[in-house]
Amino acid sequence: MNYDITIIGSGPGGYVAAIRCAQLGMKTALVEKYPTLGGTCLNVGCIPSKALLDSSEHYHNAHKTFEEHGIQLKDLGVDMPQMIKRKDAVVSQTTAGVEFLMKKNKIDVHYGTGSFVDDHTVKVTDKDGKENTFSTKKAIIATGSKPANLPFISLDKERVFTSTEALNLQEVPKHIIIIGGGVIGLELGSVYARLGAKVSVVEFLDSIIPTMDRTMGKELQRSMKKLGVKFYLSHKVTGVKREGEEVTVTAEDKKEQTVEFKGDYCMVAIGRQAYTEGLGLENIGIKTDDRGRIEVNDHLQTSKSHIFAIGDVIKGAMLAHKAEEEGVYVAEYVAGQKPHINYNLIPGVVYTWPEVAAVGQSEEQLKEAGIPYKSGAFPFRALGRARASMDIDGQVKVLAHKETDEILGVHIVGPRAADMIAEAVVAMEYRASAEDISRMSHAHPTFTEAMKEACLAATEDRPLHI
Ligand code: FAD
Ligand code: NAI
Repeated sequence: MNYDITIIGSGPGGYVAAIRCAQLGMKTALVEKYPTLGGTCLNVGCIPSKALLDSSEHYHNAHKTFEEHGIQLKDLGVDMPQMIKRKDAVVSQTTAGVEFLMKKNKIDVHYGTGSFVDDHTVKVTDKDGKENTFSTKKAIIATGSKPANLPFISLDKERVFTSTEALNLQEVPKHIIIIGGGVIGLELGSVYARLGAKVSVVEFLDSIIPTMDRTMGKELQRSMKKLGVKFYLSHKVTGVKREGEEVTVTAEDKKEQTVEFKGDYCMVAIGRQAYTEGLGLENIGIKTDDRGRIEVNDHLQTSKSHIFAIGDVIKGAMLAHKAEEEGVYVAEYVAGQKPHINYNLIPGVVYTWPEVAAVGQSEEQLKEAGIPYKSGAFPFRALGRARASMDIDGQVKVLAHKETDEILGVHIVGPRAADMIAEAVVAMEYRASAEDISRMSHAHPTFTEAMKEACLAATEDRPLHI
């Protein structure tokens, strides 16, 4: 079999690239070593984590806020196996949907580990060791990432584990110790805190979600503390030990004092690393950088110009929608089009409650780059819509250029921030000023009014409702 293009890895980068290649008339193959399509995101990432976040949010609301709403509920409980079963059903429906899309677009799916034999030959080895070799004119590496670990931690995958196992727990932990106060730590920490677990987050740096605007980390920490999550910032983990059902995590605090945490589960969430094992990169002379990522140029070409790489396996944000954009980019580039990705406008979202969402530059980045800016913020507590739903935590912060008023960054902690950030992305893509947004009608009562008000605050410091 000869293909115009072969894509290795069926995550959001790979399967979207395959669809776009097929749409553009290429004879396309997709190789996946996992039994279902969709990669990390659909199987053990975005989708299952959001399913559990939604389930746990329902429970939390029923438990904590229904009474105030005037709703009486008796005998409320958590059925963890059922919650996991529903999550699994959501995952199966979603991965089956990708399989359908492959058929619809006449993409040949080869199940097994894909590796390069030479520049134009791919070998697929299935789980029984059966090999299938074919030639391809071009290829896209979309093999994603896997959880990172610390060298001294042994992951038994039962009580000391990563996000993959945390998505399958059959009981609510009594006390889960989470190493890493980044996106995974806070999202899955929220799930278990809402279900009644004691959650301790041990973070190396002095802030949670440290790569986002610092104000957001502080706001979110305040809200999550109300949920009962305990934060141990500036703590360097030095050891993790399991004895029976007890897990002990040791860390050093700022004063170099040893601190000990005892719980029944420990999740390591200290980032993810590019995954290239078994790809046979050595057979085609493609090298990885010091963090194991495949090096690419501005057109996402590796050192072999007919082989591209996208998504988590290359530099940049490890996000599903970033991988998707890159998949489309490569397909269109190969087809002779002139696509473009604006990396500055790839939004980042944390699905806690309140949610956190951001796009563009943070205040810290603007300061470092010496760009003159002004800032306008508006708290959700001043919105009628937020009070009606009792979601008053958080704020919208808009950063605009001091002279031109162009919006340079939008940072939201608050209800439905994940959906609200889309307005900021559109505005910034069209290079809107803060005044532009502040002159547009926003439906009342909605959470999006906070965006308009923050823009009014950024333009001339004249918000209407505070
Ligand atoms: P992946 O999705 O990792 O897919 C790579 C695929 O390649 C895998 O299926 C793998 O089996 C396959 N593969 C690897 N090597 C081979 C080989 N040699 N042969 C054949 N197949 C191979 N991002 C968001 O944007 N939003 C979220 O809400 C979000 N939530 C997340 C929650 C969790 C718990 C985790 C872990 C991640 C989350 N992410 C989220 C990140 C997101 O999952 C990744 O950024 C995204 O999946 C990257 O896509 P990808 O296509 O590059 O790789
Ligand atoms: P992360 O990079 O978001 O956070 C890791 C955290 O661990 C950082 O705060 C870091 O300072 C801390 N850390 C590192 N080493 C440590 C140590 N030795 N001790 C204590 N803390 C330490 O990585 P995370 O949370 O593992 O997520 C991986 C990737 O998955 C992220 O890049 C993210 O983009 C993606 N993801 C995205 C989601 C979303 O878009 N909503 C949800 C979940 C994951």
